[in-house]
Amino acid sequence: PSPLRVAVLGCGVVGTQVVRLLTEQADDLAARVGAPLELVGVAVRNVDAPRDPVVDRALLTADADELVARADIVVELMGGLEPARGLLLRAIEHGASVVTANKALLAQDGPTLYRAADSAGVDVYYEAAVAGAIPIVRPLRESLTGDKVRRVLGIVNGTTNYVLDRMATDGLELDDAVKEAQGLGYAEADPTADVEGYDAASKAAILASLAFHTRVHLDDVYREGITSVTASDVAWAERTGHAVKLLAIAEATDDGVSVRVHPALVPLDHPLAGVRGAYNAVFVEAEAAGELMFYGRGAGGAPTASAVLGDVVSAARHRVLGGKSPEESTYADLPLLPHASA
Ligand code: NDP
Ligand code: HSE
Repeated sequence: PSPLRVAVLGCGVVGTQVVRLLTEQADDLAARVGAPLELVGVAVRNVDAPRDPVVDRALLTADADELVARADIVVELMGGLEPARGLLLRAIEHGASVVTANKALLAQDGPTLYRAADSAGVDVYYEAAVAGAIPIVRPLRESLTGDKVRRVLGIVNGTTNYVLDRMATDGLELDDAVKEAQGLGYAEADPTADVEGYDAASKAAILASLAFHTRVHLDDVYREGITSVTASDVAWAERTGHAVKLLAIAEATDDGVSVRVHPALVPLDHPLAGVRGAYNAVFVEAEAAGELMFYGRGAGGAPTASAVLGDVVSAARHRVLGGKSPEESTYADLPLLPHASA
């Protein structure tokens, strides 16, 4: 099969790790897709800025429009509303499959992308937009869609969890802990989005839309961040047997769907109290399934790149094998990985 052309838009914390995985795991990915994935370009603002050596500088371009026009799969990792939205829409119009980690865009204007994708007969993949490496979008979108979800509750912002953790363990004040989170690649380009709860609210809107088969916009989410929480508040909470956590809660009520993000006191013996650093955890309560817990790294370049690559492989398989994996297809001569004999 001919190679699938992959364009990556953005080469920051996440984009760099996606480029690394696409480059270093090219053979494995080809085997899993049933066709090679060819990285045809990486769009950035400044082509002359220093980059990780894993990025082939010859692939860098400041002309994202031109790059999008020659790709089968477009991976958007720039962030922000524009030009991300316009580029994704143009990619979809060209018939490309799109993958994005941009929860802000999805929570504010996802339906525009989904409608365009429906008309073009392509898909929008966004597992990385919620809770980094944790598979939560696909379980809600697919595995649990035959069930009735009652409640989704959890920690979905790694930066604020890291910050609250550093306040609790070392008495750091908010600004210092935020600087650390920025240095570790957890924070948004503008960390106000994290500490004021906008990022968690965007993720809550996406999860609620999937869980309750409705459209929840960022503005529909009640939002309170952690800017008024001090190290002494966190220490007082600990003394009373609680951890302070920024929770996202979406639940079906008699009046509809309620979605909110706010700091909460979590008893120290509750599993959410043990979620440390930039880890996330999401509980889903469904009628037939009962309670499910999803836990893992919620932010950072490599964990998020893992989710992005999963989407890239899904998108590519869809184009090559109609969504099947090579193992499931009847396609002959696939370059399957060798396996150890028993
Ligand atoms: P960064 O700020 O580290 O990287 C952004 C990249 O996009 C940079 O390479 C930048 O170029 C490029 N870029 C920005 N604007 C433009 C533009 N107008 N034209 C061309 N290139 C542009 O962001 P992250 O990697 O942290 O995040 C990317 C996306 O992933 C965001 O939507 C974020 O919310 C999401 N995300 C991030 C996670 C994380 O842990 N960091 C986790 C999950 C999702 P240049 O390098 O030249 O400045
Ligand atoms: N800034 C986000 C966070 C990145 O801290 O959770 C992951 O979406």
